[in-house]
Amino acid sequence: MFRKKREVIERRLPTHIAIIMDGNGRWAKKRGLPRSAGHAAGASTFKTIARYCNRIGIRYLTVYAFSTENWKRPEAEVQGIMNLLRDYLKDADQFKNENIRLQFIGDFEPLDEDIRQLMAEDMETSKNATGLTVNIALNYGGRDEIVHAVRRIAQEGLRPEEITEQAVAERLYTAGMPDPDLIIRPSGEYRLSNYLIWQSAYAEYWFSNVLWPDFSPKHLEQAIDAYNGRDRRFGGV
Ligand code: FPP
Repeated sequence: MFRKKREVIERRLPTHIAIIMDGNGRWAKKRGLPRSAGHAAGASTFKTIARYCNRIGIRYLTVYAFSTENWKRPEAEVQGIMNLLRDYLKDADQFKNENIRLQFIGDFEPLDEDIRQLMAEDMETSKNATGLTVNIALNYGGRDEIVHAVRRIAQEGLRPEEITEQAVAERLYTAGMPDPDLIIRPSGEYRLSNYLIWQSAYAEYWFSNVLWPDFSPKHLEQAIDAYNGRDRRFGGV
């Protein structure tokens, strides 16, 4: 008993976990269901995992909910994902009750006005929460984010010698947040898909064949255990 307790205490927790919630479509297809059912199941998994991260003391959880490329999907599927977001954002009490702070990254301009309104309200409601920060990537693309930062640098008229890594990082959507320590991609795909491409320079990766709707705290624990086995040197020796 004592030994087990010690092991738990000594475990290093990643400060920031980022997840690509992939495999919803395949999960639905396997069951003969529409893709929207896969996204609904994925949204439910997201809530379970966010709650679990909060409970074990993770500080930041960033999830890829909608990419700049996802607009290419059929209109009904896009609307289905947007409606799941609406449902999640409407239930603002959940953040208050759970001490979760809600933030977003991405280019929000093309999103429907009511969604943007809900996002603003939830950020305000949850801004003093001291537990997990849930960070939802919405109309997010890593290259788009870097272009956006570079444009700001040009608009602000920085001199070449002022353009440092820090100057770029401060103009990304993630300004003020620590870089992800652990990036999780389920569903058997092994790529970043334009996700946090600047911020992931020194992240550890964990891949699994499990489809996102089937992802559970058990898988998260496996990822954290794998992370604990990694030797992070950040370019040193
Ligand atoms: C990728 O799976 C998943 C998405 C593009 C959407 C993810 C969105 C959600 C889980 C809902 C978001 C809701 C909240 C509340 C954050 P895929 O469709 O590419 O799966 P496939 O590769 O099997 O087709």
